[in-house]
Amino acid sequence: MTTATTPAIRHYLQFADLSADEYTYLFDRMAIIKKKFKTYEKHQPLVDRTLAMIFEKASTRTRVSFEAGMYQLGGSVVHLTTGDSQLGRAEPIEDSAKVISRMVDIVMIRTYEQTKIDTFAEHSRVPVINGLTNEFHPCQILADIFTYIEHRGSIQGKTVAWVGDGNNMANTWLQASEILGFKVHVSTPSGYEVDQSVAGLRSADSYKVFKDPMEACRGADLVTTDVWTSMGYEAENEARRKAFADWCVDEDMMRIAQPGALFMHCLPAHRGEEVQAEVIDGPQSVVWDEAENRLHAQKALMEFLLLGKL
Ligand code: CP
Ligand code: NVA
Repeated sequence: MTTATTPAIRHYLQFADLSADEYTYLFDRMAIIKKKFKTYEKHQPLVDRTLAMIFEKASTRTRVSFEAGMYQLGGSVVHLTTGDSQLGRAEPIEDSAKVISRMVDIVMIRTYEQTKIDTFAEHSRVPVINGLTNEFHPCQILADIFTYIEHRGSIQGKTVAWVGDGNNMANTWLQASEILGFKVHVSTPSGYEVDQSVAGLRSADSYKVFKDPMEACRGADLVTTDVWTSMGYEAENEARRKAFADWCVDEDMMRIAQPGALFMHCLPAHRGEEVQAEVIDGPQSVVWDEAENRLHAQKALMEFLLLGKL
């Protein structure tokens, strides 16, 4: 007697959850899905599918791109926050995961510790996507690398300069560099370094640490940064303002990078803090493409997690 086998659920909790081959497929899919969107061609492979979005932190881009993206794919969306659900009243994550995943087809979560989303995924019957945790922001790097490819071609063998906090974005760039074969030059103030074990890296081969942010940018193909104070760390704001004063991406840093270097920022940005207005609003900046590409990246990701390779 043969038994029907259900394919294993695929989650997207960190960048390392997909292989290099799967990323190649996804970047191709993003281009196809983006073209359909731009030419008003209907693309609705997820009719009757429902996405639950759980936000324990604020969001503009992640919320709009997942919500609009799911509707564009033919599905629908349920939006939950800590304040308006039992999650804020200490219902165990395990119980929430069991209940929510019996009612919807896919779940996106933005929360604090990575352990929370890992626990949710362990008890979920459906794919779970990380919409940002303290440790990782894989959907953002998915869009960022797609943006790089659109502007400059493959990122393999290139150098990305990370200037600023050793945070969720930095950790995810580092994971991506191991999988996709590029280098990251990291410069953080002391006390805010990346931690190889938190970033979940196999080795230190794909990145190099620089004390001086200018040196990290020398010869880079892409310069990128993020806010000095991430969500959840607001109590450290004053100490961080002092510590990060020299970690502002300015025109000198862009000049020392490759002549065709791009500037990226996941947004929201603080002009005059982590980046000069002349850089983020200047000719090398691709931040608006980067933000738009969250939509196309997430549509391709949801399609892949629910339907596999088409
Ligand atoms: N970059 C990003 O994730 O933006 P939001 O916080 O607005 O979702
Ligand atoms: N590192 C930032 C990214 C915001 C999209 C944060 O976690 O707040």
